[in-house]
Amino acid sequence: MKNIKGLIFDLDGVLLSTDHFHYLAWKKLADRLGIEFTEKDNERLRGVSRMESLEIILSLDPLVKLSEDEKVAVATEKNEHYREYLKTMTPTDVSDEVRETLASLRKKGYTLAVGSSSKNTRFILERTALTDCFDAIADGNDIKNSKPDPEVFLKAAEFVGLDASVCAVIEDAEAGLEAANAAKMVAIAYASAYGSKLGDVQLEKFSDLDRLFK
Ligand code: BG6
Ligand code: MG
Repeated sequence: MKNIKGLIFDLDGVLLSTDHFHYLAWKKLADRLGIEFTEKDNERLRGVSRMESLEIILSLDPLVKLSEDEKVAVATEKNEHYREYLKTMTPTDVSDEVRETLASLRKKGYTLAVGSSSKNTRFILERTALTDCFDAIADGNDIKNSKPDPEVFLKAAEFVGLDASVCAVIEDAEAGLEAANAAKMVAIAYASAYGSKLGDVQLEKFSDLDRLFK
């Protein structure tokens, strides 16, 4: 870990949790379309882009067929539901552990960035007062290819002017760990991804980052 200068954090499931809001918003849409959709199904959407998530949901019921234009319209509908839930978020949705660890890492001189597939990243960071904790933000609006493609992490490294070889990624999704591996960055498996064989390092508690990075 000695050569690491930059830490790139996934957002959903790492810095905070929006899983349940994603579930509620997709569930509203699925109910309207008559598709059975459970919290277990929702887990398959972790780290995956909005349109790819929709494809996974549509694959649950082959009887529901939508044109490309209809897919864009229903994904927008889901996002409107999702944004309503996001509006209820406040700074208290980020734990003290996360805030203190980020502050400590920054004080030690590490460059911190966010690398998320979500196009709502900036809105969520603003709502939770996290924006100023980072030197750069790369999100779903900056990329063509979503995780497991490495694009979002390579963008984050580019934004902070660091080579991929000196960056580590903290991820809760298999797709995100795959992306970190493809970017040739150190892949740190956390939360839902804890124990994944795609991780170079296993992170049990967020605050352990402070011990990992001296
Ligand atoms: C990721 C989530 O962070 O963002 C996925 O883990 C989600 O579940 C993806 O589909 C895209 O989010 P958004 O906010 O652009 O719809
Ligand atoms: Mg995540």
